[in-house]
Amino acid sequence: MTKKYSIAVLPGDGTGPEVVAEGVKVINAAAEKFGFAVDYKYFDWGGDRYLETGNVLPDDAGEQLKQHDAVFLGAIGHPDVKPGILEKGILLKLRFELDQYINLRPVKLYPGVETPLAGKTPEDIDYVVVRENTGGLYTGIGGFTMKGTENEVACQSMVYNRAQVERCLRFAFEQVYKRHSADNPWKGLSEEDVKAGKIGQLTLCGKTNVLTYVFDLWERVFYEVAADYPEVKTDYTHVDATCMWMVKNPEWFDVIVTCNMFGDIITDLGAMTQGGMGIAAGGNINPNGVSMFEPIGGSAPKYTGMNVINPLAAISSTAMMLDFLGESEAAAAIEKAVMYVTGEKLDSMGAGRMGYSTTEVGDLVVENL
Ligand code: IPM
Ligand code: MN
Repeated sequence: MTKKYSIAVLPGDGTGPEVVAEGVKVINAAAEKFGFAVDYKYFDWGGDRYLETGNVLPDDAGEQLKQHDAVFLGAIGHPDVKPGILEKGILLKLRFELDQYINLRPVKLYPGVETPLAGKTPEDIDYVVVRENTGGLYTGIGGFTMKGTENEVACQSMVYNRAQVERCLRFAFEQVYKRHSADNPWKGLSEEDVKAGKIGQLTLCGKTNVLTYVFDLWERVFYEVAADYPEVKTDYTHVDATCMWMVKNPEWFDVIVTCNMFGDIITDLGAMTQGGMGIAAGGNINPNGVSMFEPIGGSAPKYTGMNVINPLAAISSTAMMLDFLGESEAAAAIEKAVMYVTGEKLDSMGAGRMGYSTTEVGDLVVENL
């Protein structure tokens, strides 16, 4: 019997619906080619619905999404809604409610895409960031006292419990195995490392010199958990130095694991090095539940309806989604088609410069699948 997946689609705001439409186009083509079926259920959650109804999300939003195999999200953010309301009320709320404790963000320079890093090629820029996605500064623990006075105090805490840290680190170690094996070790390893049986590398990105409680915990758990993954070479960098190396020597990275806030920041930097927000895809993963896949760029409201936004990030996120659903062949084919299109069709593509419309790029990927 044909395998059938049920996907919840949240096109969201601004150009979200346009890029989501291209993603759906590509999923449908992949489904036909690889022999599976997909059912979509659309949800209108986003800025317009909020402005009309005053409601950010229905109370049972999480429960509704749990009825599906995966969630495909366009973009959240509306120019007429105060910043924070939709981001916290929809995106963060769903990540938390669905316990999507990993935000997986590949940083991969596709062929033909321009990077601002001089002299770096697709060989050099190919790693993934595992961002913890439910804790840290994002828990919103904090408050004000004496608000509005000279002596006002504002406090927002970086909060982590050990179990949260451990599950994130284990996922990150597993990612190394997903990317490499003894037959296919990471090219950044030295001969010595390979001889010692290493297959890849996990870098913990922290700030142990200042955040001496939270990253003390992360670091201790990191080395404890590492004992269970002897084939993985471990490495540590402070977050500020990580930014430096991401620009200067991106080839030093294989898998990076970090806290929620640092992961948010370094993945915008990473996205720029891979050609911009139009390219960067991400997955909010709950390995035991429902995961949500999204292009990591925003809703770009001023381009709404103009058919000019690059849909490749949304398309790449459908590849991640299919991979997590178990359709790894279809996922690999989509990524290959995207790489063919960037390399052969969208010559020297830089941010905001495709030479094709949104829908044409979607068609090109479908044609080359
Ligand atoms: C992201 C975004 C979100 C985040 C915002 C919109 C809440 O920047 O997905 O990286 O900070 O996680
Ligand atoms: Mn961000």
